[in-house]
Amino acid sequence: MAKKKPLVVVTRRLPEVIETRMCELFDTRLNVSDRPATHEELVEAVRTADVLVPTITDRIDSGLIGQAGDQLKLIANFGNGVDHIDVASALRRSITVTNTPGVLTEDTADLTMGLILAVARRLVEGARTIPDGAWGGWSPTWMLGHRITGKRLGIVGMGRIGQALARRASAFGLSIHYHNRRRLPVEIEDQLEATYWESLDQMLARIDIVSIHCPHTPATYHLLSARRLKQLRPHAIIVNTARGEIVDENALIRMLEADEVFGAGLDVFEHEPAVSPKLIKLAKAGKVTLLPHMGSATNEGRVDMGEKVIINIKTFMDGHRPPDRVLPSML
Ligand code: 8YV
Repeated sequence: MAKKKPLVVVTRRLPEVIETRMCELFDTRLNVSDRPATHEELVEAVRTADVLVPTITDRIDSGLIGQAGDQLKLIANFGNGVDHIDVASALRRSITVTNTPGVLTEDTADLTMGLILAVARRLVEGARTIPDGAWGGWSPTWMLGHRITGKRLGIVGMGRIGQALARRASAFGLSIHYHNRRRLPVEIEDQLEATYWESLDQMLARIDIVSIHCPHTPATYHLLSARRLKQLRPHAIIVNTARGEIVDENALIRMLEADEVFGAGLDVFEHEPAVSPKLIKLAKAGKVTLLPHMGSATNEGRVDMGEKVIINIKTFMDGHRPPDRVLPSML
């Protein structure tokens, strides 16, 4: 008799090729509406699924995991960050958690470089003037931004994405500075021509642009606190394509309002998907560039992420260790 296929519940629409392949391989329950799941729907999912495929829009907290049936064995996250999943609770219930690292590195680094350029050179503000009919012609002193060549970029979190950004930023003439839990091996530092700062405070006081690339964990919540943000100089630019919770957003807003920093480029928000009305006001005034969490939003990236999810499920169901297990040491 053929082995029963595992029930895989997918909480959001995934690229068509991925959904098709999943349906061939597993007994797959898709979300054709793409509406984010309600808490009740998630409860139903963890009570019935053998494998849950969530995304960042699902809160998989300890309460929800407590309601999971014994059949739930794997949470195969579609995404790299797992701060929306209580991994410790899952592991206590012997539920394996996997993610999709590596495949969104280059896309996220590209978008970050785009935000650095957008804020420094006022791209969004400038682009808006033409459709708004607000451009009266060229002027020597109008719409001036900051040159980025020769400036110092401080990268907070020098993992895959931080390093991919460093490579791009070097090509734009930025000098690379970084703060990380652990110093990189000297060969990598040499390759990237990167200067390590053990003290984040000291780095912040000396750089022109700061870009956040660490995961959101209890240790990095408000890592850029009000006090630390105060170390930045008035011409500084803050870019965040990691997680909103790493920056004290209210403190950043206050500094932007008071012109204590030049500007910010944000792809993520502290209370996502809600965006502070104050940030929206600052965006209208040209002080910030806001993007709707699109760091990994390329067709190729989302297919690659889906393929990783499939490999993780398939390997697990075949009785092996899936390649992208989230381990307690990563939290
Ligand atoms: C994803 C991300 O699109 O993978 C991540 O950590 O932040 C995004 O690029 C999203 O999380 C998918 O769940």
